[in-house]
Amino acid sequence: MFETVSELLEKKLGKAEFMLAIPEIAGRGHLSTNAAFLLAEAEHTSPMKAASTLKEYLEANAPKSFFHTIEIAEPGFLNFWFTREAIEGEFAKALKAGENWGKPPKPIKERVIVEYSQPNIAKPMHVGHLRSTIIGDALANILAFTGRNVTRWNYLGDWGTQFGKLIAAYKKWGDEEKLKETPIEELNRLYVKFHEEAEEHPELEEEGRAEFKKLEEGDKENRKLWDKFKEESIKEFNEAYDILGIHFDEWIGESFYEKDLTPLIARLLKEGIARESEGAIIIPFEEEGLAPGLIRKSDGATLYLTRDIANLEYRLKKYKPDTILYVVDNGQSLHFQQLFAAARKIGLDAKGAHHVKFGLVLAEDMKRLSTREGRHISLMGVMEEAVSRARAIVDEKQPNLREKEKAEIADVIGIGALKYNDLSQNRMSDIAFSWDKMLSLEGNSGPYLQYTYSRMRSILRK
Ligand code: ARG
Repeated sequence: MFETVSELLEKKLGKAEFMLAIPEIAGRGHLSTNAAFLLAEAEHTSPMKAASTLKEYLEANAPKSFFHTIEIAEPGFLNFWFTREAIEGEFAKALKAGENWGKPPKPIKERVIVEYSQPNIAKPMHVGHLRSTIIGDALANILAFTGRNVTRWNYLGDWGTQFGKLIAAYKKWGDEEKLKETPIEELNRLYVKFHEEAEEHPELEEEGRAEFKKLEEGDKENRKLWDKFKEESIKEFNEAYDILGIHFDEWIGESFYEKDLTPLIARLLKEGIARESEGAIIIPFEEEGLAPGLIRKSDGATLYLTRDIANLEYRLKKYKPDTILYVVDNGQSLHFQQLFAAARKIGLDAKGAHHVKFGLVLAEDMKRLSTREGRHISLMGVMEEAVSRARAIVDEKQPNLREKEKAEIADVIGIGALKYNDLSQNRMSDIAFSWDKMLSLEGNSGPYLQYTYSRMRSILRK
């Protein structure tokens, strides 16, 4: 039904970006559209008039006994109700198509890079990374389903002056055994300790800088340590991704671009895109009304933005993607505005690059999560909690199942709830993290959806 209405609207309007959706408020039809507003604009008429034109057009051109009612609602929306026949027809189609239901008739031949998750090595993921992981993976799945060639890219945060500090800390207080067992916990402990100690011994900062410089210059020992931090971190991230059923095609992170940065900065200076400012190098964005982007500090260190420019150039050249999606929280909006503005100045064709933003994850009272509650969570910890809470529900509702079944069901419900909790909410707004709501057996929750699905399967079987 969706497809039929959408095709008809497209015939009348051309490739306009109208919305066609299930209304959030009951009583406004099975589907509803704002298409009349677009038609009104194109034909210089009122939305209400355009709505009647569209209504007539749809009634005249729809298949037989398709619409039950088309209602025109102020100030120009169209609400549709379908006949029972049409709805049954749709079910028949869905059953026949099975897993391919909703797939476009011809695969869409486009190349897309979806960049998501992007944790920083040696640090626990925070809930923002978890949101990026879940939203990004869903987007990648949908795009792949439509036939697009999708590259799933985990752009690791694996470079920056913090690694000098970490190396300094590891050399002083590191524990090799612990690094093997719980790498991220151990590295985070060292990082925190470094900052605590540096308050009393500020000369540590200098040591950290010196270690980073050595790392940049390819010092064997430092390189080896950094490699180890990275390898152990990836192992731990992968354990979490495995449970989530997520894999990546590309793991190129920030460090990969290190060697490109000096020539890049020189080129930007030569072309007059960047300039010196108080010993540092910036790209001014006066025309764009944005704050200037810092690409080299006065001490010579490059920045996150510098690496992202190199990264974008590399992707465009190597992959020739039609679309690049950066799934990163709202907090980095300015960064991506600067990145895309820099791309325009450089003359890169980055029309297809988009920042797919999302809101914060907050505590139930909509306050910021405290560190203890999970601003810095171990992703593993959250997943284990979700599964164990699901398990408690299974134990209560289905005490007679076999152990193996119980464990399987708890996995499916727990992880499903975690994912659905994210995907069912408005991507752009801040969301509350509530275990009870997430695992609720009623209402708009993952477990309820799974329950409904299995009920329907059981009806079909009978
Ligand atoms: N690692 C970064 C962070 O944790 C996110 C990276 C986002 N992607 C990018 N291309 N800048 O904040």
